[in-house]
Amino acid sequence: MAVDLTGRSFLKLLDYTPEEIEYLIDLSARLKKEKKEHKNQKVLEGRNVALIFEKTSTRTRSSFEVAAHDLGMGTTYLDPSGSQIGKKESIKDTARVLGRMFDGIEYRGFHQSDVECLAEYSGVPVWNGLTDEYHPTQMIADMLTVKECFGHLKGITLTFFGDTGFNMGNSLMVACSKLGMNYRACGASKYFPDDELVDECKKICKTTGGSVLLTEDPEEGARGADVLYTDVWVSMGEPEEVWKERLELLKPYQINSNLMNLASTDAIFMHCLPAYHDLGTAVGRAVYEKYGMKELEVTDEVFESVRSRVFDEAENRMHSIKAIMYATLGADGK
Ligand code: CP
Ligand code: NVA
Repeated sequence: MAVDLTGRSFLKLLDYTPEEIEYLIDLSARLKKEKKEHKNQKVLEGRNVALIFEKTSTRTRSSFEVAAHDLGMGTTYLDPSGSQIGKKESIKDTARVLGRMFDGIEYRGFHQSDVECLAEYSGVPVWNGLTDEYHPTQMIADMLTVKECFGHLKGITLTFFGDTGFNMGNSLMVACSKLGMNYRACGASKYFPDDELVDECKKICKTTGGSVLLTEDPEEGARGADVLYTDVWVSMGEPEEVWKERLELLKPYQINSNLMNLASTDAIFMHCLPAYHDLGTAVGRAVYEKYGMKELEVTDEVFESVRSRVFDEAENRMHSIKAIMYATLGADGK
């Protein structure tokens, strides 16, 4: 077996080689096919995983729970208020306790340093379920979705519009660089990703054939792109006060039919979700009442269009999270 990820944590894609990332994408596709064929996937029977969420979740939590159960594993969910983590017990101590009980730990929180600390001290594989800096499990699902649409990844141009320097923008820039894709970050320069990360990605691109472009011009971002991608303009954990400035600065980067029409003829729309595309959410309604915008990072028309792949993408979260647990818990060697 060329790639063996047994015992590895999955904290950010920068830690993984292009070959390892491609392996996880292809393994996700295989496990997805097997699940649809109703094959028994209980190869990790008797194992147990902890799922720690210091921020809320629908997709990531559901994916870890369903995937773990499909693989025959037990799960324990620790919600944002239901554990001692960070309040009465340090991450380092928590890691050493949970490492004695569980075979793997998922962690969603704020700082990347927290998930890195868990991995360092638990002695078991730790999977990053989202931090302010990175959302790596989302990347395997997203790249699987792109590959399902276009048949390949190398040479595909993906533009991320909006808050380009937060977890989704950072992760997509790294993923595209590693996989030889052309990445465009399109938004207000105030929110561009850190120079250091941009430089690192550009360096990676020299070996993979990918490219990285930062632009404030929405037309330049959209023109000829294969994938138009966006995320919320205000992320979990950010204060309400930032809404005003975000709306002002990011309004030109809303993905609407004008931008989609500039993209390639086969272009698709992607979003990690949840999305503010209508008034079906409490936050969406509050923003509308205060600022008058009914649709935020994407219009309802684009979100609901045939080009939108958001629900395939959401389904793929489960298959790819299953692949990540399967590979790092050593099911491959069985
Ligand atoms: N995309 C994503 O991580 O969704 P959740 O916040 O619902 O887990
Ligand atoms: N940037 C978003 C991603 C949600 C999956 C957030 O952190 O809230």
